[in-house]
Amino acid sequence: MIKILSFLIFLFPGILFSSHKTTLALTPPMGWNTWNTFKCNIDEKLVRESADVMVSSGMRDAGYEYINLDDCWQLGRNANGTIQVDTVKFPSGIKALADYVHSKGLKLGIYSSAGYFTCEGRAASLNYEMIDAQTYADWGVDFVKYDFCYTAGPKDRSNLKVSLEHNKKVYTDMANAIKASGRPMVFSLCNWGVGEPWKWGAEVGQLWRTDIDIVANSTSWRRWTGILDRQVGLEKYAGPGHWNDPDMLIVGMIPHKQAIAHFSLWSVLSAPLIAGNDIRNMSPETLEILTNREVIAVNQDPMGVQGTRYKKDGRKEVWAKPLADGSYAVVLFNRGLLAKNISFKWSDLKLDWETAKVRDLWKKQNLGNFKDSFTAKVEGRGAVMVKISQ
Ligand code: GLA
Repeated sequence: MIKILSFLIFLFPGILFSSHKTTLALTPPMGWNTWNTFKCNIDEKLVRESADVMVSSGMRDAGYEYINLDDCWQLGRNANGTIQVDTVKFPSGIKALADYVHSKGLKLGIYSSAGYFTCEGRAASLNYEMIDAQTYADWGVDFVKYDFCYTAGPKDRSNLKVSLEHNKKVYTDMANAIKASGRPMVFSLCNWGVGEPWKWGAEVGQLWRTDIDIVANSTSWRRWTGILDRQVGLEKYAGPGHWNDPDMLIVGMIPHKQAIAHFSLWSVLSAPLIAGNDIRNMSPETLEILTNREVIAVNQDPMGVQGTRYKKDGRKEVWAKPLADGSYAVVLFNRGLLAKNISFKWSDLKLDWETAKVRDLWKKQNLGNFKDSFTAKVEGRGAVMVKISQ
């Protein structure tokens, strides 16, 4: 046991950081966010209905917790500096929305930017950190996503001129304001990986975006697999209370086979699982992906190790994540267009096992005992996900 533990610490020194002072986000946050589908077209009806569906669909019981507003809930500021809610879209205000979401056993997230404006040009929080964090706390907000537009100046939407020092400072200022508010709120840094936030984010918040925005359009395959590639090497920075965030889910917005691969891989990466589809109008197949409890259990494993790619043979890849009970979750990922057999040996995962029990987490079936290796036929742009144990 000690040997296994020291080996895991050698592979994933991030485990050691699990004593970080926070008790927030001890497993990757799970929820839903307005942005991927609705962009600026959001209102309180959408948010209330989505909270309702989170409960009625079984998503809440499967672990989804946060209902997160993204950009465009706000307008400008009052004369006294308080942020002004868009009362056409949110006539009841955010406090009433938070109360509603809480009454459903869920939590509310909000969005702002560490700049003069949000990415959509609404009032943002630079120089208003204390007043905004206190406002969020008074409303009963539980999660703050903090973006990176217009940080260099009111006319500069990009971040190119932002020094590392300023980058860290604007996020630290909001983190301190959240602390000063006295309300525990998960702090989600959204600076797109600029300035390697994995190296300093754990001191500031509970999760940090590592890369550019995920998208659900004709370029989505290239985009999300590119983001996936760039997670390799970041494993050691993740652990309970401090997570790499490769961005929200596009399950339900991309072809089914790809969605299974995307959800399997995000689970193995210990990524936050924040659904981005219209959950009020999703197909049974999409709901089945989002609520697969065996896959979610991999993502939410209490040891909180971020999995990685163990094997790459052209377009055939093997990703895996060690779990607290000594087993491994393994994703066989086929990037090609045609179905292919993908194999791995226990020794590819540095395991000296002879035989292993294999369970298919999508078929929800035990496949039996295997000696030395396992092979599965994997559809093009698809994945097979198994758990192997002794
Ligand atoms: C940035 C973020 C996105 C989203 C939009 C909102 O692009 O990375 O996740 O919040 O801003 O404007």
